[in-house]
Amino acid sequence: MENFTYYAPTKVVFGRDTVAQTGQLAREFGANKVLVLYGGGSAVKSGLLQRVCDVLTAVGLPYALLGGIQPNPRLSKVYEGIDLGRREGVDFLLAVGGGSVIDTAKAVGYGMANDFDVWELYAKRAQAAACLPIGAVVTIAAAGSEMSNSSVITRDDGLLKRGYSSNLGRPRFAVMDPALTFTLPPYQTASGCVDILMHTMERYFHPGPGAALTDVMAEALMGTVLEKSRILMDTPTDYDARAEVMWAGSLSHNDLFECGTGTHGDWACHQMEHELSGMFDVAHGAGLAAIWGSWARYVLPAAPERFDRFARRVMGVGDCGDPLENGRRGIAAFEAFLSAIRMPVNLRQLGLTPSPTQLDALADSCSYHGGRTIGAIQKLDRADIRRIYQNAL
Ligand code: NZQ
Ligand code: ZN
Repeated sequence: MENFTYYAPTKVVFGRDTVAQTGQLAREFGANKVLVLYGGGSAVKSGLLQRVCDVLTAVGLPYALLGGIQPNPRLSKVYEGIDLGRREGVDFLLAVGGGSVIDTAKAVGYGMANDFDVWELYAKRAQAAACLPIGAVVTIAAAGSEMSNSSVITRDDGLLKRGYSSNLGRPRFAVMDPALTFTLPPYQTASGCVDILMHTMERYFHPGPGAALTDVMAEALMGTVLEKSRILMDTPTDYDARAEVMWAGSLSHNDLFECGTGTHGDWACHQMEHELSGMFDVAHGAGLAAIWGSWARYVLPAAPERFDRFARRVMGVGDCGDPLENGRRGIAAFEAFLSAIRMPVNLRQLGLTPSPTQLDALADSCSYHGGRTIGAIQKLDRADIRRIYQNAL
């Protein structure tokens, strides 16, 4: 096993009616005045936002509100949050929502605590020295931002989507009541399940020999999410299925599944998807579903043993004796799963028919104009990336 550092400082308060503890938790982590961030309306409609405001009031915490955060969250909203937070003198950020709201809170936290344009972080031209403390009330199991070190923001002009990672931005606490996710539309539930699977798969498909315990835990997580996501397509209010998926969402992206592997994972699919959701504003998990098969077939020859193991241990494909062929069968089985939960397995099913010029633009942006390669199992340059997008049509 390779050396590693595992840092997962977020206090997780999980289960029914845990929202009631939010005020105390904010107090525990030093809040004197809170900026409550939320999305486009679901938290208002469900009454959750009011509940959160009430529990803050109950512990004597004043707050300001920043609503209207959209999926693939925009930089303009981050600037609005920084201005509002400074004007109101808040010292704590409370995200009520999913990855988009939590990521906006992280960006606002960096913007308020540092003396330069926050986009410099996402443009990889600066490093944060601090971040305001953040708490999260999670309403969708998907991005795992409640325990992750990353945030992803999209520029309004040019729709450039970029991530920034720092331990400073990891939320101090996450309140996770699986019942809050009952109201998710099936498409968002499925898209979230794909993202959860992919956060583990990005780490599972790596070039090294692996680490026994990490591999087996990753396989258990994938198996659990494969099973529970199918249940949720039929029974969206199945509390236990929601709970398993929600906990999987946090564990999948808190770096647990790279411990001892000697790598931080592959991440090529995520890099390629961020271009898609930046340019075309699609749901992140659905974008991953649309691109994964094309990526997997492209890199399969570079790591047939890993794909063979995935096929046998995760997808339950029998051993035909040929790792390459088994790998192909595993990829097909995963795509069949995606279809079963009504996720796209190509760009057309995602609703996109990019022109050749748009494919060029996607590959160009993803490769930083030819200045970087992506992926670990196989390093992919601009031409490789272009082919993978093309094959995903
Ligand atoms: O805005 P509202 O009205 O709340 O609706 C949201 C939104 O339309 C809805 N929703 C959320 N909870 C709901 C609900 N609807 C009904 N009932 C509920 N309980 O779901 C939609 C999607 O919300 P969003 O926050 O965008 O979802 P998700 O958690 O999938 O976040 C996606 C964003 O996170 C980024 C993605 O790129 C994308 O921008 N990611 C962030 C990561 C991180 N910070 O570590 C890692 C990921 O790989 C990912 O890149
Ligand atoms: Zn993701």
